[in-house]
Amino acid sequence: MRKYCIVTFGCQMNVHDSEKISGILKAEGCAQTDDPRNADIVIFNTCSIRQKAEQKFYSELGRMKALKKKRPDLQITVAGCIAQQEGRNLLKRASFVDNIIGPQNIHMLRNTLINMSAVIAIDDNPDITDAQIPVSRSDGLRAWINIMYGCNNFCSYCVVPYTRGREKSRASESIITEVRTLSRQGYREITLLGQNVNSYRSDLDFNGLLRELNEVHGLRRIRFVTSHPKDLSDELIDEIKSLDKVCEHIHLPLQSGSTRILSLMNRKYTFEEYLDKIHKLKMKIPTIAITSDIIAGFPQESDEDHESTLHALEQIQFDGIFAFKYSARPNTLAAMMDGQVDETVKAKRLHQIFSVQDSITERKNKELEGTLQEVLIEGESQDKPGYHVGKTRTNKIVIIPSTYAMKQGDVITIRIARAARHSLEGAPPK
Ligand code: 5AD
Ligand code: SF4
Repeated sequence: MRKYCIVTFGCQMNVHDSEKISGILKAEGCAQTDDPRNADIVIFNTCSIRQKAEQKFYSELGRMKALKKKRPDLQITVAGCIAQQEGRNLLKRASFVDNIIGPQNIHMLRNTLINMSAVIAIDDNPDITDAQIPVSRSDGLRAWINIMYGCNNFCSYCVVPYTRGREKSRASESIITEVRTLSRQGYREITLLGQNVNSYRSDLDFNGLLRELNEVHGLRRIRFVTSHPKDLSDELIDEIKSLDKVCEHIHLPLQSGSTRILSLMNRKYTFEEYLDKIHKLKMKIPTIAITSDIIAGFPQESDEDHESTLHALEQIQFDGIFAFKYSARPNTLAAMMDGQVDETVKAKRLHQIFSVQDSITERKNKELEGTLQEVLIEGESQDKPGYHVGKTRTNKIVIIPSTYAMKQGDVITIRIARAARHSLEGAPPK
């Protein structure tokens, strides 16, 4: 039996793609191993969103050279966004790579296994929405589901439209069937995945899809990432409020608090428009958690623009953020803009962003002390023996003493006894 090892970089989309890669390999009779040295097939599922992610991959790939020399029959595949971005060029850098397979062509892996032939598959694949790929999921309770692929937005800093192609939505019937099957298999939570989920459109729009999925028997929670602020409609806010399975959490990347920078980023909203949506969300759904992404040091960002971002964080009070130093990406407009910001300035701004947000996150968590929260139990805590771990509907991690009767998959109500910046501790309700 041939053994395979998958090394995954990047976002949830990639983690889920790796579940598909695993599904294909298992269907061909291969077995998984975590150690590339024991593997006959090594697959790197790569990310190119920022330069740092690319560097991590190249240093891991470098280590494969000696291994391949010792064992020439070792099959090395580069999949994911770097495969798409670099294509054949990868062979100049690492001639020992056998296959190069972009994110739209995962199904092509099967050919490399059956025919033992080298494959370079980076064409645009219009049929990606119909692909019947077996999925080997890494969790038995929570599942990721693609509802759309690619992105049409062309934010000026972002490489995704170049690596994952144009936006394509899956037919609603195929999504609903997949979710029904998962629910029968015991899955309790689904996360709908897409670069821009709220622009989902096939026979149903995103709101219609949520309404259908809310009816799936046995399912307890529905989440979705990522939403684009420009496509967040009043109707979607109403659906989040009224559909009982749709969780009260939205990830809504702001990127910058300066309208001038937002325009250079091609984000298609002003800061005021964004703020207006935040107000609507909070007014209609007071318990909602809102998280965001911020980029520090976009080209031409002045001290004043940066101050606007810090001010925005204070004004909005996100539950949490992901923040990154701007990284120039191949093919993107922003990489060619004048006024690239110095690395040290970017680092300083990023540090300030985190320090403002850290106290907000901590304070928001503290506010939850004494409240009752619905928690989906994920299992025993790996970090803290004697505790179980789960998440609130607002996607916050809660640990609960294991003496309180519960098991994986239970949905229980607890009282928040203590809150810290990164986690909450629960106790039985009084
Ligand atoms: N540099 C820094 N951050 C980026 N992101 C996307 N492209 C870049 C880039 N070139 C961030 C955005 C996006 C998140 C997934 O990654 O904030 O929302
Ligand atoms: Fe990139 Fe913008 Fe598309 Fe998100 S919406 S994937 S940031 S281009």
